Amino acid sequence: MEYSLKHQLDKDPYQKVYVTNIGPYIKLRIFEPEIIRDFFQNQHNYKKFEFFTGNLMRFVNGIITAEGQDWKSSRKLFSQAFHFDYIQKLAPLIEKSTNTIIDEIIAKNELQNFNSITCMQELTGRVVIASFFGESLENERLKGRTIVETLSYILNALARQTGTLIYLIFGKKFFQLGLTKHSREINQLIEEFNSFLQNKIASKIEEIQNDIKQNGNTSNFSILAQLVSTSQIDQISRQQLFEDFKAFYLAGMDTTGHLLGMTMYYLTQYKDVYSKLQQEIDTNQDQSIQCISQLPYLNAVIKESLRYYGPANILFDRIATSDHVIGGIPIKKGMIITPFAISMHRNQNIFENPHAYNPSRWLDKKISEINSFSYIPFSSGQRNCIGQHLAQMQTKIILNKFIKKFNFSCPENYKLVMAFKFLSEPVDPLCLKLTLRQ
Ligand code: HEM
Repeated sequence: MEYSLKHQLDKDPYQKVYVTNIGPYIKLRIFEPEIIRDFFQNQHNYKKFEFFTGNLMRFVNGIITAEGQDWKSSRKLFSQAFHFDYIQKLAPLIEKSTNTIIDEIIAKNELQNFNSITCMQELTGRVVIASFFGESLENERLKGRTIVETLSYILNALARQTGTLIYLIFGKKFFQLGLTKHSREINQLIEEFNSFLQNKIASKIEEIQNDIKQNGNTSNFSILAQLVSTSQIDQISRQQLFEDFKAFYLAGMDTTGHLLGMTMYYLTQYKDVYSKLQQEIDTNQDQSIQCISQLPYLNAVIKESLRYYGPANILFDRIATSDHVIGGIPIKKGMIITPFAISMHRNQNIFENPHAYNPSRWLDKKISEINSFSYIPFSSGQRNCIGQHLAQMQTKIILNKFIKKFNFSCPENYKLVMAFKFLSEPVDPLCLKLTLRQ
């Protein structure tokens, strides 16, 4: 449905809203910049709508879905740890995980069949774990699976349950009760993972605290270490910390891996963009994060990928908690509102030639005049993406390393068709070919 709406919007970019019903609810999808701006200015009038996220919330119940005081306290606590100045210190961890993945791709001989989105999601999953704990836990196993594989398995299984008719009729209770063998297996895995994670958090905190006691400081650079060394750890319960870690994983792994995997694909399709980026990266001598994060064309490529097909180009459904008006449209309490970021990113009144993948548009000074509600790959307002600096920094580090190490190409017969799953994803696996550069 959301995907066909995107096509409809390409044909009629002036469409403002689209109204349907889901069961007893009226659902209003909003496309027009003025209405979306009003939506952001009225965020206090909405809550995230739980129906479709409800099954996922059986496993993840942290900052991304929290509301009210729970959300406020988590957001305040983590804002400092996700600040760019602190995030920069995580660069060596990201470089280490990237080097390990590159070695694994070569050792497993995956060069000819490099599934760009899956492989990048494995890497970005490890990066979220490393950013939180100071190590990527890649040697830990649960039922023979790595931690990233276990998390992906659980999240995919929950997303698949949500897409069934049974879920539409009975809701999450059916799966919660474990009425089928498969749902019992998932429920048990969730329990095992939760207990693994709770133990890991407790032992890491103890390790960092002991380090500080003995040495006056800790060599662990991670979000957890930041919370412990500033004593902010006492402001959050272990339960909340544990839920928030899973929320960061859910919000940060799929999205950033998707951005990287899709950008690699665009580079194979737009040869002039690829050679310009390769040249900028090849001629840059300074490999510090300060320098890589300032490379103008790399920055432009990432901005353009986020505009052209950003991973979160449709925001979570919201439910109105009171009557109000946005863009002249009366909204009644109980209506569902879904903002479409992509409708602005492909709007010809905002972006010239919007259907062209053209990173150079971001080098033009005029672009800085764009209204802050018209380019929203990380959303806007109080519930914008807390991980956006981490996402951009890791995308730059990883692309820089992959472009230096490999040439990418795409099989000529590959045809990209996107479908809306949890994110908009390619229907057929996006398998590129890599060759080692001299
Ligand atoms: C390219 C990568 C990413 C994109 C495009 C992206 C985009 C977004 C968007 C659009 C939202 C708002 C969702 C909504 O309200 O409907 C969001 C929220 C969020 N993101 Fe990201 N995100 C990315 C990476 C990350 C990373 C790496 C993390 C952390 C490790 C993260 C953590 C979060 C959290 C916790 C929220 C909820 C914030 C709140 O409600 O206060 N994201 N993200």
